[in-house]
Amino acid sequence: MEELTMQQIVAFCKSRGFVFPGSEIYGGFANTWDFGPLGVELKNNIKKAWWKTFVQEDANTYGVDAAILMNPRVWEASGHVQSFGDPKMDCKVCKQRFRADTLVENHSKNTVSAEAMTNEELEKYIEDHNIKCPNCGNKDWTQIRKFNPMFITSRQMVGDEKDVVYLRPETCQGEYINFQNIQRTMRAKVPFAIAQIGKSFRNEITPGNFLFRTVEFEQMELQNFCKAENSMETYDSYKQKALSFVKDVIGLDETKLRFHDHDKLAHYAKAACDIQYNFPMGWQELNGIHNRGEWDLSRHQEFSGKTMLYTDPFTNEKFLPNVVEYSIGADRLFLATLCNAYKTEKLDNDETRVVLKLKPYLAPFKVAVLPLQKNLGEKASEVYNSLIKHFMADYDEAGSIGKRYRRHDEIGTPFCVTVDFDTLEDNSVTIRDRDTMKQERVKIAELVNYITKKLEA
Ligand code: GAP
Repeated sequence: MEELTMQQIVAFCKSRGFVFPGSEIYGGFANTWDFGPLGVELKNNIKKAWWKTFVQEDANTYGVDAAILMNPRVWEASGHVQSFGDPKMDCKVCKQRFRADTLVENHSKNTVSAEAMTNEELEKYIEDHNIKCPNCGNKDWTQIRKFNPMFITSRQMVGDEKDVVYLRPETCQGEYINFQNIQRTMRAKVPFAIAQIGKSFRNEITPGNFLFRTVEFEQMELQNFCKAENSMETYDSYKQKALSFVKDVIGLDETKLRFHDHDKLAHYAKAACDIQYNFPMGWQELNGIHNRGEWDLSRHQEFSGKTMLYTDPFTNEKFLPNVVEYSIGADRLFLATLCNAYKTEKLDNDETRVVLKLKPYLAPFKVAVLPLQKNLGEKASEVYNSLIKHFMADYDEAGSIGKRYRRHDEIGTPFCVTVDFDTLEDNSVTIRDRDTMKQERVKIAELVNYITKKLEA
């Protein structure tokens, strides 16, 4: 079987109503994408599955939906404002953007402290040492420019610097700053976690690869607040939970998943790792797990002047909890899910079919109702109208029955219900399974139960 390419997935998403290029009728808007009717269903189902696994099924995890626009001091505490000055330069040949200080440090094998160098010194070092683009090997650099990793907006019409407001580049800060609110109102005892799903915005240096790295995306993030001495155990357990989620709940192929432990850690971190997925462009980060120590709560305590201490209700001991973070992009997981589910199968009659082998509960439509002929439309509509109260369903009467089956195989619909002439006599329909293509006769009155049971499996 030929390897799936990213171009194939992009074309499939566009032609089948999963994802369209953003602002397409205006010539597009780089690295933005609009989710179509099928895409929005699949992404919602992925988010629901994450919330069910990490919030609903864990009594010690609480949800939050914090504001995207936050007090700018939040981003000073998080360190994002300071990183505004990162010196970036572009390769004029391949258009990739790099941090000039990283180029110098990597070239000098960390023997030069680039952090202390001015932009002029960095440019001179790169010139003198003939540092080439790590991506294409050419040496044709732009001048160093400062690059904002955060999108900026303003509360005022005049857009004064003091009115600057940032679009959040990650959702987790809304979880840290609500630590005390949630601990108090939910009477939560450490260890407990706060979870959130929401939009983040990043002026990425190297966006691309379709939904893999975009400038506007959704994150599903969770912060576990625990005692320092338990933080490594908590970290290890989230590594396993995160793996089990993508493998067992989302259905990603085990052979396409691996852990990648980080050697280089932030100064405050105790451990960090990614789970990588083997995308069409190779092994890349799917999600991160991070033992962040006291860093986040201590920074918000310092910058807000409000205590973040937790009092143990049994021992009265006061301490700053450690944070173990688990973070995964909903759009990146959507892309991995599609790449993983997209199969081309050779059939017994030598024909091929494309089939999206999604877990049934993730599929955009759970069921399609297909009248064998148009003149069975009235009965088929009756069946369809009874099913849409329970499931996302589609009604399709255009083309041969074989073509309609293929259409629904391609978009991952797990069940096709065919209404035929016998239906008018026996109030039964034929239900066809997407994966086995086997057909069964089921009473209309039993259909909802039948599909519900299969969706739970
Ligand atoms: N709060 C920690 C944090 O944001 P991150 O590694 O920068 O960590 C976490 O992001 C996850 O969010 C990534 O593993 C990825 O799944 C997703 N993500 C990050 N940047 C993204 C982007 N530009 N486009 C799509 N997804 C992104």
